[in-house]
Amino acid sequence: MRKSRTQVGIVGAGPAGLVLAQRLARHGVESVVLERRDRAYVEARIRAGVLEQHTVELLAELGVGARLKREGLVHEGLEICLDGERSRLDLAAATGGKRVTVYGQTEVTKDLIAARLAAGLPLVFEAEEVRPLDLDGERPRLLYRKEGVEHELTCDFVAGCDGFHGVCRASLPEGALSLFERSYPFAWLGVLAEAPPAGEELIYARSARGFALYSMRSPTVARHYLQCRPDEDLAQWPLPRIWDELRRRLGRHGDLIVEGPVTDVSVTPMRSFVAEPMRHGRLFLAGDAAHIVPPTGAKGLNLAVVDVRYLSDALIEFYESGSQAGLEAYSDKALARIWKAQRFSWWMTSLLHTFGPEQAFEDRIRQAELSYLLSSEAARTALAENYVGLPL
Ligand code: APR
Ligand code: PHB
Repeated sequence: MRKSRTQVGIVGAGPAGLVLAQRLARHGVESVVLERRDRAYVEARIRAGVLEQHTVELLAELGVGARLKREGLVHEGLEICLDGERSRLDLAAATGGKRVTVYGQTEVTKDLIAARLAAGLPLVFEAEEVRPLDLDGERPRLLYRKEGVEHELTCDFVAGCDGFHGVCRASLPEGALSLFERSYPFAWLGVLAEAPPAGEELIYARSARGFALYSMRSPTVARHYLQCRPDEDLAQWPLPRIWDELRRRLGRHGDLIVEGPVTDVSVTPMRSFVAEPMRHGRLFLAGDAAHIVPPTGAKGLNLAVVDVRYLSDALIEFYESGSQAGLEAYSDKALARIWKAQRFSWWMTSLLHTFGPEQAFEDRIRQAELSYLLSSEAARTALAENYVGLPL
């Protein structure tokens, strides 16, 4: 057994774990990041791509904003298309100048990994069978195996940044957490294509055929999504059917779709989930390990980043002054903002998707609500405020 110690043991090298490690390092707090997958796998995983302004600002402050600044696409608005009628929402005008930046989460992850490795700081890929132990005591430990060798990492604190299927939340005793969950009767079929996007800005479309989202990664790479069944068989979706459906859900604007070589097709399930509290003893949960939002509001990554901003503030305060006040307050502070983003993500999802013949009445109500929203300055402002990200 190879033994070592650190101040903060971080499980998971997604955005939550990597941003936490980077921010702690900038303030002189030591950490070790343990990641189950290999680097190539982590850097190839395709995820969402809309960054709120505070996320962009934090990444810049952490010294990983250069490529984001060069390659990110700043968007001042978005479009909503209801039954073929397009309407632009000016996010910046509605929110006193706030914007979002389109830059793939995959790219954020690559930038953070490169910074960590360039600084020579510990990031262990292919850490197998990570087991958190003694979370209730003063000296929690993380056991793991790397290349056949057993390791024991003793920590002051453990940060569970290991996503929805991670080991940290799962290792807590029965009854330690209250779980809140909602599943949806649909999923998203996502395509990544070497083709120009459907427009300059994102288009969220609702039609009788279901929801569609027309997004992008760059001026030459489109990222599109179609509402589909949760158990969708991709064999039923040959590329001509995908392109055809993408056109049809835009109604008379279908000719905005430009076809190109497709590099990825996948199905994303939709779920709302919160685990409370986000602390147990010396374990702190952050990001998808503690909560999941359906992707309709583009909140997943941004929420994870706010969690670790709060958590790093609290840990830095602890190491600088010995005060545990920030650590004590972490869960309540993070959850207050998370529930607002949960509400928004649930609402955007309900509003834009079709729920099938059993909800014919509710579907008409949603259509009416969206139509009202597009005609009301107050309602548009409320959407914009949430979309660009609520204050920290
Ligand atoms: N041991 C070590 N690492 C693990 C383990 C484990 N047992 N289980 C999972 N991991 C790793 C995963 O391989 C992944 O790299 O933890 C990381 C978790 O990263 P994410 O799933 O990206 O979660 P998070 O960092 O919270 O970022 C949230 O990711 O899923 C999106 O929509 C979500 O945008 C949001 C963001
Ligand atoms: C994406 O580009 O992947 C994306 C954009 C907006 C969303 C979800 C995903 O709401």
